[in-house]
Amino acid sequence: MGSAPNVIVVADQEALAETAAQLVVDVAAEAVDARGRFSLVLAGGATPRATYRRLAQSPLRDRVAWRRARVFFGDERAVPPEHPESNYRMAYETLLSRVDVPATQVFRIRAEADDTDAAAAEYARTLGEVLGTRRGELPRFDLVLLGLGVDGHTASLFPGSPVVREVFRPVAAVHAAAAVIPERITLTLPVINAAARVVYLVAGAEKAKVVRAVLADQATVPAAMVRPENGTLVWLLDRAAAGRLTAPEAR
Ligand code: 6PG
Repeated sequence: MGSAPNVIVVADQEALAETAAQLVVDVAAEAVDARGRFSLVLAGGATPRATYRRLAQSPLRDRVAWRRARVFFGDERAVPPEHPESNYRMAYETLLSRVDVPATQVFRIRAEADDTDAAAAEYARTLGEVLGTRRGELPRFDLVLLGLGVDGHTASLFPGSPVVREVFRPVAAVHAAAAVIPERITLTLPVINAAARVVYLVAGAEKAKVVRAVLADQATVPAAMVRPENGTLVWLLDRAAAGRLTAPEAR
């Protein structure tokens, strides 16, 4: 089991975007220095938009060796890439179309496929090929960005879903009845927990209750099951999302 998470609380959503973007820059530099490349998993939802925009602007844009990056997604909704609910579209518009990352190094999840199980298996193969994973091993991403839902979901790992108990497949199709687009494809806990760094980006008072439950170890929701085995976990919160934390969680 990994060490205790590092909880960072910043003033507001703007500071969250600034801090998160700087963190991506730092992790990218470290990975490129060490291995000549950088693997990044992007989160969907609304919270990371400001972070992606910040990363796509000068001066941070020029501080990431985007030509050395491999970009993946934590989850995708069953919509085509041009759909307003597409996580790929959001990331493309805010970040990927604005930086120097070659299109061949951006790996979107084809969740619009009729057969989402086959599309999930295809994405798992892609991860293995691109990251050079040996048979039976899980890919080890340099950085996984995650969001948090008020119900405690993360990526598309929803409470009560059998996919939360997955121990083998790195990618799975899910049906999330409560979500606006219920059919989805998601990375699973084993591959998230094999990452070198996992960073939650959480903003807003409506998340404060679940943040407290997860960080006080009082929750069994999927977000609480993210514990990188041989990596680090950071919770980056704005003051509103951290509003219900008491010491020692709110360090
Ligand atoms: C998705 C996500 C999901 C998201 C959370 C938080 O595709 O829906 O990846 O896990 O990160 O629901 O979303 P918000 O940032 O919009 O609150």
